[in-house]
Amino acid sequence: MHTELYYFSGTGNTYYIAKKIANSFPDSKLIAIGSLDLELPIKTDAQNIGILFPVYFYDAPKIVKRFLEKIELSNNPYVFLIANYGGGAGNALANCVTILKSRHIEVSTTMSFTLPDNSIIFPTPEEKMTPMLEKADHEIEKAIHALQNQEQSDLPSKKLGAHLVSKLMLKYSTDYLGFNALKISEDKCTNCGLCSKICPVNNIATSATYPQMNHNCEMCFACLHHCPEEAIRFKHMKPKTNYQYTNPNVKLKELLQI
Ligand SMILES: Cc1cc2nc3c(=O)[nH]c(=O)nc-3n(C[C@H](O)[C@H](O)[C@H](O)COP(=O)(O)O)c2cc1C
Repeated sequence: MHTELYYFSGTGNTYYIAKKIANSFPDSKLIAIGSLDLELPIKTDAQNIGILFPVYFYDAPKIVKRFLEKIELSNNPYVFLIANYGGGAGNALANCVTILKSRHIEVSTTMSFTLPDNSIIFPTPEEKMTPMLEKADHEIEKAIHALQNQEQSDLPSKKLGAHLVSKLMLKYSTDYLGFNALKISEDKCTNCGLCSKICPVNNIATSATYPQMNHNCEMCFACLHHCPEEAIRFKHMKPKTNYQYTNPNVKLKELLQI
């Protein structure tokens, strides 16, 4: 049975879950959503399909929702959605289920895991990292067993409160904090080019002087967390800490393959 795992990941948490699942299904393929041409239909005849993503503002990332509008399935596959987040998933999974339902695609099960938060404003304390990663690891193992048995589960439904909080968080974080307008500090940047290579949506162009941010940011913060000089910050907000996080079980070269 052929398995395809479509994922979007900035700092490796989602990639880590996808990798663990891929390692447990013999004929499986990891596919980065950022590498797909979403102007075209994404056709697949896989019998097992996983879609994995981080939660942003109690919702799924924009690119994941665009992907859900484009995927075309055949053979009535087993479809599962997996979200991961630092504190709360809000309507992220429910919104994805709704998009797929409107396209007559039935989701068999949804799952979610808590992993260290990469959103900068809610940094996960150092001492909580290891227990959190170990707990998630254990839960992912159990989830893999359920997926191998093609278990079904009740699907989440949308909550009005989470919807309102999501809209507020998104507006505050973009209009006020500048989450989608990251800035490269020219004093610190050494023009090493890593930010451009690590961006999963190719939003950072290289130049002879400094990398240039384009206008297609998904707010994954891969560039900010990987920058060796800590030269990437929000346009409007100075974070209190120099918090940088990347999943310790994922190597840089794995994320660069995305
Ligand atoms: C822009 C942004 C918004 C986020 N919003 C939420 C949120 O609403 N709830 C939450 O629990 N975590 C939130 N997070 C944390 C991520 O969901 C979490 O760290 C996730 O594991 C990151 O996955 P990745 O390493 O694959 O990129 C947010 C992170 C970012 C960058």
